[in-house]
Amino acid sequence: MKILFASSEAHPLIKTGGLADVSGALPKALHDLKQDVRLILPAYADLLPRAGTLREVSRLTVTGSVEPVRVLEGLLPGTEVPVYLIDAPRCFDRPGNPYTGPDGSDWPDNALRFAVFDRAVVELAQNRAGLDWQPDMVHCNDWQTGLIPALLSLETAHPTTVFTVHNLAYQGLFDWATFQSLELPYAWWSMHQLEFHGQLSFIKGGLAFADKLTTVSPTYAEEIRTSAYGCGLEGLLQQRAADLSGILNGADYSLWDPASDSFLEHHFSRRSLKGKAANKQSLQEHFGLPNAPKIPLFAHVGRLVEQKGIDLVLDILPELMQRPLQLAMLGSGQSTLETALRTARTKYPDQLGVQIGYDEALAHRIEAGADAFLMPSRFEPCGLNQIYSLRYGTLPIVRRTGGLADTVVDASYATLDGASATGFQFNSTTPEALLATIDRALSLYDQRTAWTRVVKTAMAQDFSWKRSAKLYTQLYRKTLAA
Ligand code: ADP
Ligand code: GLC
Repeated sequence: MKILFASSEAHPLIKTGGLADVSGALPKALHDLKQDVRLILPAYADLLPRAGTLREVSRLTVTGSVEPVRVLEGLLPGTEVPVYLIDAPRCFDRPGNPYTGPDGSDWPDNALRFAVFDRAVVELAQNRAGLDWQPDMVHCNDWQTGLIPALLSLETAHPTTVFTVHNLAYQGLFDWATFQSLELPYAWWSMHQLEFHGQLSFIKGGLAFADKLTTVSPTYAEEIRTSAYGCGLEGLLQQRAADLSGILNGADYSLWDPASDSFLEHHFSRRSLKGKAANKQSLQEHFGLPNAPKIPLFAHVGRLVEQKGIDLVLDILPELMQRPLQLAMLGSGQSTLETALRTARTKYPDQLGVQIGYDEALAHRIEAGADAFLMPSRFEPCGLNQIYSLRYGTLPIVRRTGGLADTVVDASYATLDGASATGFQFNSTTPEALLATIDRALSLYDQRTAWTRVVKTAMAQDFSWKRSAKLYTQLYRKTLAA
């Protein structure tokens, strides 16, 4: 099959979170399954130096762009997957984060930027870019690509479309004036199309118009049909239930495996865990924590946003710091959370390590050196860090939601006995539930043999992309056949 995979980020070109991990790995896995898959991304300024050799293959006239839009072609670094980069300098030639300016707030012209990108994708999808290639399937991801299925529906013949929701909380909402400025069909200003409570919703372009909808775990696919998780879109998702499925993300073990991880000084595996202790020591040094091999080191890496439940960790910090443990935190995001973590660090310098910012290498070293990984998320479409944690023998402590529910097996009497336990789960989004679960982990940590057994079971779990990529090809085939 010929598949055009549209995304607003992809590792190792540009990354703010898990969407980049998926968009870097899934096309590669589809390519390994002999599919003709090509990735398409905006040509952000920060990405170009990492993109290797590029050549201009097309120039497009696109509504919304006063300048011609160049299409650059290269390869996703380290792979044979072709990449098209949409070079519209007024939209994408600016430094920093793809979605936000230096002050952390959204770029004011995000609607226009991603409308231009989506329109350029449509030109390629319709084989109007002079590339002599027309995809059978356009796979869109998150709100930034939401207009693609809608715009394709205006064409008499067009490829089929799959729209994947990586996070329903980000919807791409803009006002009426913005809707008018984008020159979209007026009929789309309707609750059955792109209008959502008086605003333009990019994500509805995907949810209402794509042939099939997926999300990144089976549990999240169920959850988003309820008012608790549906972010106001549950009605539409119920209507489309027959077309909606959940396919769990995988892990790219060529990047995330403690036996070969290029960011680690000390490698280790299920058979030889010695290197893990050495990584722990170097992590304690990095965070200025006492070198204490026997004290459990808990950790977190992530975007500091309400979704991730880091406020719950802050709530229990005074109690936590009375326990024999250390905690290392890496993240960036909401300034209130960043400040609270920095302040807490000065209060508990011997137990709490904090680094605010984005640091890919440190994220790997944390996975390798910590004993347990905290993910008390309010919701989690899939979550990749708990999957990485499993492979690094860093037991995940997670709220039972979304992909966290689908990937971690809670340590209970039964699962410990049956050697299937891989971590710890809790239900309610309360500081008490989190603390009680950390206490459960601490008491297992004291029983070294039992803990090590769980570590080894966790490390043996296989969430490689191959399985998920096969499920996507089945879905594409079914959709094409229909
Ligand atoms: P989300 O996509 O919601 O951010 P995921 O768990 O799916 O959550 O993926 C997060 C990805 O981003 C992981 O690869 C994680 O290591 C990475 N990441 C998040 N924050 C940081 C950070 N501050 N430094 C380095 N990597 C980070
Ligand atoms: C989103 C979700 C995360 C998921 C990632 C990749 O950012 O928050 O749970 O793992 O996308 O699908």
